[in-house]
Amino acid sequence: MTGPANATVSCRICGGVVDEFLDLGRQPLSDRFLTADDLAGEFFYRLAVGQCHGCSMVQLTEEVPRELMFHEAYPYHSSGSSVMREHFARIARRFLDSELTGPDPFVVEIGCNDGIMLKSMQEAGIRHLGFEPSSGVAEVARAQGIRVRTDFFEASTATAVREAEGQADVIYAANTMCHIPYLESVFRGVDALLTERGVFVFEDPYLGDIVAKTSFDQIYDEHFYLFSAGSVRAAAERFGFELVDVERLAVHGGEVRYFLARRGARTPTPAVARLLAEESAQQLTDIATLRSFAVGVERVRADLTALLHRLRAEGRRVVGYGATAKSATVTNFCGIGPELVAYVCDTTPGKQHHLTPGRHIPVRPAADFADPYPDYALLFAWNHAEEIMAKEQEFQAAGGKWILYVPEVHIV
Ligand code: SAM
Ligand code: TMP
Ligand code: ZN
Repeated sequence: MTGPANATVSCRICGGVVDEFLDLGRQPLSDRFLTADDLAGEFFYRLAVGQCHGCSMVQLTEEVPRELMFHEAYPYHSSGSSVMREHFARIARRFLDSELTGPDPFVVEIGCNDGIMLKSMQEAGIRHLGFEPSSGVAEVARAQGIRVRTDFFEASTATAVREAEGQADVIYAANTMCHIPYLESVFRGVDALLTERGVFVFEDPYLGDIVAKTSFDQIYDEHFYLFSAGSVRAAAERFGFELVDVERLAVHGGEVRYFLARRGARTPTPAVARLLAEESAQQLTDIATLRSFAVGVERVRADLTALLHRLRAEGRRVVGYGATAKSATVTNFCGIGPELVAYVCDTTPGKQHHLTPGRHIPVRPAADFADPYPDYALLFAWNHAEEIMAKEQEFQAAGGKWILYVPEVHIV
């Protein structure tokens, strides 16, 4: 898998030259939690990010085969966060009120995971279908009466659904489009499956927030693209669609929700031009901006490792909180193993009693956090900080301190 650092990489959207600006080194699969038996065969690839000269899309320079990431044992369960459950109930309600009002409406979700959004559709009696290649989480959705096809969404599978079930009024994807290198096939699938007036909505971590917050941990195998309004608009136009609305979202450390329609089918809102103007004023996709982001990443690595080494020298107990996919990038890039962070607490059953990818830090159940409280907790799930700090108030009351590394290393 690992190619030479200086090989020319072509853009997965337009074929242009991709200019690498950040090298995060050898990395394991971010969501592959291991048992002792798995350690010998662990898969590694080279994680680096570049930007296309042609269409401005920011993307990984190396692609991990999708079957290695999305399979029966994919551990991420979307419903683990109460904030995210509310978030998806809200967008479902909006679709029900504004897009799914005709006779026999049909909604399709790409990457429905455990059914966190489609649950609302099922409860409202709306015809729906989720595409979910990871059969373990798909089964969790199905057990709640949600209709799921255990498949990758792409041109062939989308066309099969159109033939069997007709076209969809809404196609929705959260935290999934950025996972899919083969977007051309996805757009051909959307073209086959979406009604003439239908809307294709997706939301993903936003390059603008990643740069502003130096949140380099948003970069890992599954996050193949770091979208901006400019790059999404260019991709949409290339594939026959138009960007007709955008919304900034606070979840997952800052995202944008993109609304796409067939060219000419809907009038773009002023929010699109506004965000595009903001991106050009900030020179968001200038290579100089991206290179200075990379300098900021090096600074975070130096500060975080210096802090953890100092705490170890002082004999402090440090544990991690949230065995996120993001934390694979941080621990492997910064060289953080069990000697610096004794274990990581996490609510996900499929991660508990396993070792984190690459650095092999033990993952323990969330209840172990208080047994006894550590001196410091490194908050890997910083995107859920409000929810987590609210439920772990006793930790701070007992004198515990949180370590955060976004937007810079600090202690609260
Ligand atoms: N939508 C949920 C959310 O926002 O919490 C789940 C997001 S999860 C990070 C990404 C999901 O996309 C995984 O469940 C994965 O199996 C699924 N996925 C990956 N590639 C896909 C594809 N081509 N079509 C449909 N789902 C895909
Ligand atoms: P995410 O940042 O990709 O959503 O992953 C969040 C991880 O953190 C996931 O493994 C679940 C875990 N988690 C907890 O352990 N406790 C919590 O309260 C929350 C919200 C998440
Ligand atoms: Zn390109």
